Amino acid sequence: MSSHDDLLKKVSELREKSILGGGKDKIEQQKQKGKLWVRERIEKLLDPGSFVELEWLRVHRSTYFGLDKLKYYGDGVVTGYGRINDRLVYIYAQDFTVLGGSIGEVHGEKIAKTIERAIQVGVPVIGLYDSGGARIQEGVASLHACGRLFNANVKASGVIPQIAVIMGPCAGAAAYSPALMDFVIIVKGSYMFITGPEVVKAATGVSVSFEELGGANVHGSTSGVAHFVADSEEEAFEIIRKLLSYLPNNSTEEPPFVQTDDPVDRRLEELYEVVPLDPMKPFDVKHVVRSIVDYGEFLEVHRDYAKSAVVGFGRIGGYVVGIVANQPAVNAGVIDIDSSNKIARFVRFCDAFNIPIVTLVDTPGFMPGVDQEHGGIIKHGAKVLHAYAEATVPKITVIMRKAYGGAYIAMGSLSLGSDVNYAWPTAEIAVMGPEGAVRILYRREIEKAADPEALFKEKLKEYRDVFANPYRAAELGYIDEVIDIADTRRKIYSALVLLSTKRAELPPIRKHTNIPL
Ligand code: HXC
Repeated sequence: MSSHDDLLKKVSELREKSILGGGKDKIEQQKQKGKLWVRERIEKLLDPGSFVELEWLRVHRSTYFGLDKLKYYGDGVVTGYGRINDRLVYIYAQDFTVLGGSIGEVHGEKIAKTIERAIQVGVPVIGLYDSGGARIQEGVASLHACGRLFNANVKASGVIPQIAVIMGPCAGAAAYSPALMDFVIIVKGSYMFITGPEVVKAATGVSVSFEELGGANVHGSTSGVAHFVADSEEEAFEIIRKLLSYLPNNSTEEPPFVQTDDPVDRRLEELYEVVPLDPMKPFDVKHVVRSIVDYGEFLEVHRDYAKSAVVGFGRIGGYVVGIVANQPAVNAGVIDIDSSNKIARFVRFCDAFNIPIVTLVDTPGFMPGVDQEHGGIIKHGAKVLHAYAEATVPKITVIMRKAYGGAYIAMGSLSLGSDVNYAWPTAEIAVMGPEGAVRILYRREIEKAADPEALFKEKLKEYRDVFANPYRAAELGYIDEVIDIADTRRKIYSALVLLSTKRAELPPIRKHTNIPL
């Protein structure tokens, strides 16, 4: 008869094998590449001693291409739950040392189950990606596993926050899972692609490096696939901690309120200097955002992508808010295809997770141009309209300066269901900017005039007097109040308190809206 000790020895031996994944040599290779070992990653991210691993005894079933001779306990992904700043999260972390972190039948199923368990418990899920994609040796079983995993990501969408960190290759099918999640953080040196450089060369003749094809800078600034770029794995973990501090556990909870010593009636007199009275002069809207939020703390999302818009999280009087702002410092804050996508996506995230939206407006409109029209600015810009109109969370809008045309409507206007609308005295609300409007309205008169320049100026002044201010909109009830710039924080806070009990009416019968994509 064997003793308990003998029985437990067997468990320990298996545990040891599972922990070592692809073995010591492969772990060493991982370190040589400047990457942390999967176990170190989990240890550094979670609160000490909080990790509970699940399914570490699972192994693959496939026998093709030599897999019958291999046995990796855990199948190349570490899954379980733990705590971050004492909040429960589920986590899965791919282990590149086992068959390149590739997604086989069991690997994919383990991840899918982790996400499904997170949904069941109602807590965020975090995925650490380091993978060569679908496991080639397992054929269709690995594709099925990838599909199963995507399905779980979609089921979790809008129910629990999903955060992905890319910490190495993230190829093929592996890349679509993060793309289905809420936030993607890419660590410098990592890369994501659907088809790699070799396939790109064969299919298109173009030679491109991993970095040029799908490196951190590409996804952080050009494709917009990544919401954050981290210099190191440690920095990525810090971003997760910050991000989670603004997010509720699930769609039925409120985001975490934090008592603040930053006075809610703090006057923002510095903004008199920041915001030029001349509407043609740019300013950095991030100064305004930082003035408004508690302690100037703002977690910007998509910082280097579609920079004519700024989105991110902060708190005002302790309440979490999602801030959406035009950025007059970049292309005058124009809304183009990319910034439309950026804004719409962020607004929808906030709405799904009960985060009030504060919109700061200063935009000349949607971007004109053949490439923009051919690229579908009509359908992309429509996403902004759709997202704002659909959102039922508290929506507070401050028109800072220019709010012209469709962009006035899109940026959280009353017509789309915004709850409280403020304007600064510098606001200009009109169908289009004064110069363009006067040229269209008085083209013939100006052409025929004895002094065209004088007539143009006269009509310009007339137009400005009527429209290039917030008063006509306020007279019509589209603006609740014209406020002193320095009172912006206090005013937004009072609206947040007011709207904290807002009841949303949702249509009784609808599967989901059909947002233009
Ligand atoms: C099985 C894989 C694998 C995969 C890598 N490996 N990717 N095994 N299936 N998809 C294995 C390698 O054979 C190797 O095994 C180990 O992982 C490490 O890989 P290396 O190539 O040595 O590492 P590195 O030089 O760092 O290159 C990493 C890599 C490269 C760029 C990710 O492995 C690669 O190009 N892999 C294929 C990427 C890809 O095209 N994936 C798409 C798969 S199809 P040994 O035993 O030598 O250590 C797919 C479905 C379609 O995902 C999705 C459509 C959206």
